[in-house]
Amino acid sequence: RPLEITLIDRMKNFLSIENLQLLKQIGKLADQINYSAYIIGGIVRDLIIGRTNEDIDIVVEGNGIDFANLLAENLGGTVRCHEKFATATWKHPSRLKIDITSARTEYYDYPAALPNVEMSSLKEDLFRRDFTINAMAIQINEDHFGKLIDYFHGFNDIKQNKIKVLYNLSFVEDPTRILRAVRFEQRFNFKMDQQTFDLAMISADKIASTSKPRIAHELSILLKEKHPVESLVRLGEIGIIRYLIGTHSFNVQKLKTFKSLVDEIVPLQQNQNSETWVCYLVILFSETENEIELVKDYCLNNESLKVTDQIVELLDDNQNFLKEDTLGAIHHSLKNYQTESIICYIALMQLQECFANKLKKYLQNRTQIPKLIDGNDLLNLNIEKGPLFAKILLEIECAYLNQEIHSKEDAISKVKREYL
Ligand code: CTP
Repeated sequence: RPLEITLIDRMKNFLSIENLQLLKQIGKLADQINYSAYIIGGIVRDLIIGRTNEDIDIVVEGNGIDFANLLAENLGGTVRCHEKFATATWKHPSRLKIDITSARTEYYDYPAALPNVEMSSLKEDLFRRDFTINAMAIQINEDHFGKLIDYFHGFNDIKQNKIKVLYNLSFVEDPTRILRAVRFEQRFNFKMDQQTFDLAMISADKIASTSKPRIAHELSILLKEKHPVESLVRLGEIGIIRYLIGTHSFNVQKLKTFKSLVDEIVPLQQNQNSETWVCYLVILFSETENEIELVKDYCLNNESLKVTDQIVELLDDNQNFLKEDTLGAIHHSLKNYQTESIICYIALMQLQECFANKLKKYLQNRTQIPKLIDGNDLLNLNIEKGPLFAKILLEIECAYLNQEIHSKEDAISKVKREYL
């Protein structure tokens, strides 16, 4: 019999007090109806590694939808059911969302399809997952609270920093898992074992028949992590890049230039929310006879579409802004462009240092432009509402960047002098 491992201490250390209490409550409710209940997947992995993760997924041996309803009856909140997948999302009154599934088997009609779902056991459920490190559960019923369920030696693989698939067809059934393997490698500084790496290589072509939004979803997560360039290089080693962008080779230097400019210019918080990830795709696709337009297939929202369009525009532009001497003049041309679009342009063009530095200085300074005056100030000066407003407000920003004005008073004097 394998050694029984309990993770109660880790749960106390790495879960919030509220979530720990909640899991205990959920376990007791499961006891009432004789269900076994577990937390499962990424949160278990992260507890073992020693990282906080508040993303709770629960599996019950029983009907997940019924159990979600029981939780809502007893603990409040609302339930959204997904009958087809025999799963439910329970929104706790604290707004925390918890996914509840029935232990199940997923089988795929054809590679890269969405899974069909049949009821089955916990072991089957865990076996269908991507990697051993993600295929563990922790029981939360009162008498077994904290007990690790580890049929496939995920615990050992974590200790050995290993990413390992559970079965040979894993990547064929879901080629986006290759992107996930690379994500976990880079995130945890783990490595695929040889067999998993070989399976990734021979399954790489299957990504070509996977839907673009599914690929985009995984790619966006991968490229928003800390090591996007290393991840892309690794995807190159696996040979999957060819099936994503149509060519083997890509210019790592451009990717690195982009990354270091982002780190230098984009504040951390903004960086995580911004669309920098799509710029890596733009750089990759620019290698394939300038087919940047193809990136649009991977744009999941209007923001990423906008950034892609802007980069194309900047490349097509006569680029006179490079010749400008003042930051104000540059602002005239570039004020509507997102920071990441301009940074991507610098990287793609491999701009000479003097030009790159000028644009860098502009991007750094423009984040600090204060709102010296607004529309009300202009109305007070009896200027009629209309297109002139935007023009004047822009002039004021440009003058500020050029250090010609410094205060609200300066701005108002300038308007009076030039427009009244
Ligand atoms: N999963 C899978 N195959 C996929 C996607 C997900 O087997 N293509 C499984 C994994 O076992 C994973 C679980 O579903 O643990 C939940 O997926 P997700 O929330 O995407 O992954 P996490 O492991 O929680 O990753 P993260 O920490 O980045 O949220």
